[in-house]
Amino acid sequence: MTRVAVIGAGPSGTAVLRAFQSAAKKKAKIPEIVCFEKQSDWGGLWNYTWRTGLDEHGEPVHGSMYRYLWSNGPKEVLEFGDYSFEEHFGKAIPSYPPRAVLWDYIKGRVEKAKVKKWVRFSSPVRMVEWDKKKKLFNVTVHDRVKDRMYTEQFDNVIVANGHFSTPNVPEFEGIKTFNGRVMHAHDFRDALEFKGKDVLIVGRSYSAEDIGSQCWKYGAKSVTATYRSKPMHFDWPKGFEQRPLLQKLVGKTAHFKDGTTKDVDAIILCTGYQHHFPFLAEDLRLKTANRLWPLDLYKGVLWEQNPKLSYMGMQDQFYTFNMFDAQAWYVRDVILGRIKLPKQDVMTKNSKAWRKRELKLENDEQMIQFQGDYVKELIAATDYPKLDTEAINHTLVEWEHDKAHDIMGYRNKAYRSIVTGTMSPVHHTPWLEAMDDTMETYLKVK
Ligand SMILES: Cc1cc2nc3c(=O)[nH]c(=O)nc-3n(C[C@H](O)[C@H](O)[C@H](O)COP(=O)(O)OP(=O)(O)OC[C@H]3O[C@@H](n4cnc5c(N)ncnc54)[C@H](O)[C@@H]3O)c2cc1C
Ligand SMILES: NC(=O)c1ccc[n+]([C@@H]2O[C@H](COP(=O)([O-])OP(=O)(O)OC[C@H]3O[C@@H](n4cnc5c(N)ncnc54)[C@H](OP(=O)(O)O)[C@@H]3O)[C@@H](O)[C@H]2O)c1
Repeated sequence: MTRVAVIGAGPSGTAVLRAFQSAAKKKAKIPEIVCFEKQSDWGGLWNYTWRTGLDEHGEPVHGSMYRYLWSNGPKEVLEFGDYSFEEHFGKAIPSYPPRAVLWDYIKGRVEKAKVKKWVRFSSPVRMVEWDKKKKLFNVTVHDRVKDRMYTEQFDNVIVANGHFSTPNVPEFEGIKTFNGRVMHAHDFRDALEFKGKDVLIVGRSYSAEDIGSQCWKYGAKSVTATYRSKPMHFDWPKGFEQRPLLQKLVGKTAHFKDGTTKDVDAIILCTGYQHHFPFLAEDLRLKTANRLWPLDLYKGVLWEQNPKLSYMGMQDQFYTFNMFDAQAWYVRDVILGRIKLPKQDVMTKNSKAWRKRELKLENDEQMIQFQGDYVKELIAATDYPKLDTEAINHTLVEWEHDKAHDIMGYRNKAYRSIVTGTMSPVHHTPWLEAMDDTMETYLKVK
């Protein structure tokens, strides 16, 4: 029997499980699926941990999410085509759920599909190698509960370990002797730690804007964001300012490129993440920065040198859960033999054409259209429920405008579900005043 290994049971890995289960439900003969998950539960980043550094087994902590994290995009743009929020919660809910609500939603679909039996938890994959003679992968796994290492063979491997977990940590002059707290966004957990403090945020992307906003919301004395390329174009509230790039630290004093200085108590490096695959042999390893079109992946998923290996969710993300679904259904159909692949040079030519288009993108609107077109192409090739990507693109652009208009208030907006057509209700409490992010409180009706 054909065997498929899936590495990771986050939104990407669970999308693969659901894709195969949905084919089986329609009477297709499916391979044996084994999903290896390093953590003791599924949901990937959405499975919050208080831990930082190493986990209970001494493994690097995967989680980069923090308490009080709310979705930074409307849920309507990530809704599963085959499992709506209304189906899961039994009613329409507001558009920017806190982390616990989204975790519940992700789990709900795969619990319904009854695929947990395919997952081996507390099982980090240590090594994947291709056996040229046998045309099989050797997958070596560490069972952390029994503390046992073993190797099994698989026909296909699907890498779904995420790429927002291993921090990119730049060095700044004087940081070693800075008299305060220094951390990367990966280790940020509770904004209350910074109440009454002067906080320096390094970076200008999503983590910078959201962790900066969190610190401000939970009572930081001041937030200063320092940028490398260009400032964030938001109208920040009083006490939140931006400076050109940090040049050095002397004691507690930060020196910026424009010659100004500021005394700070803490530095949070919101400087992004690395694609990190220590468990893959060199010839199988994707090497890329965080961008919309990584090379070497046909249709953004299949390793062109050996398409028995595929990668999920390795792109920078405007689209998330439903893009992982589109990818999972596509990879599934390649494995099931429903989609025939062209020769390697044709696959490479195709992905280079996407890269060429990616290089010409000039603004977020064009990037959204680009990723939407990609998702649309994948969906058209499989039996994934039809999803109106033009409508999703439209909502994403609306979200961008709402955010640009009011960075501290955009989460109070509501959007229409593209899957069910239902208009979402406005949340009972404005985000800035909502200190309780539990699912119970969030789901309460006004
Ligand atoms: C702080 C933060 C906030 C975010 N907020 C949003 C948001 O609001 N909305 C949104 O749509 N997206 C958000 N994202 C994007 C996020 O990438 C996706 O939502 C989603 O979690 C990606 O799913 P994934 O399965 O690809 O990766 P992950 O969620 O990272 O899951 C990967 C899984 O692989 C496992 N794993 C890793 N290595 C191994 C190994 N060697 N062996 C076995 N298992 C392994 C991990 O334990 C994990 O469970 C956020 C990301 C971050 C970092
Ligand atoms: N739900 C939420 O609220 C939430 C919160 C946080 C994060 N997220 C998600 O997490 C993912 C990752 O976002 P991210 O912001 O961590 O990573 P990112 O989007 O890859 O951005 C990395 C940032 O680091 C900066 N940077 C890198 N090296 C630097 C250096 N040497 N000096 C100064 N700046 C440097 C970059 O600056 P330049 O742009 O100048 O190059 C960029 O601003 C995204 O998918 C995002 O949606 C979501």
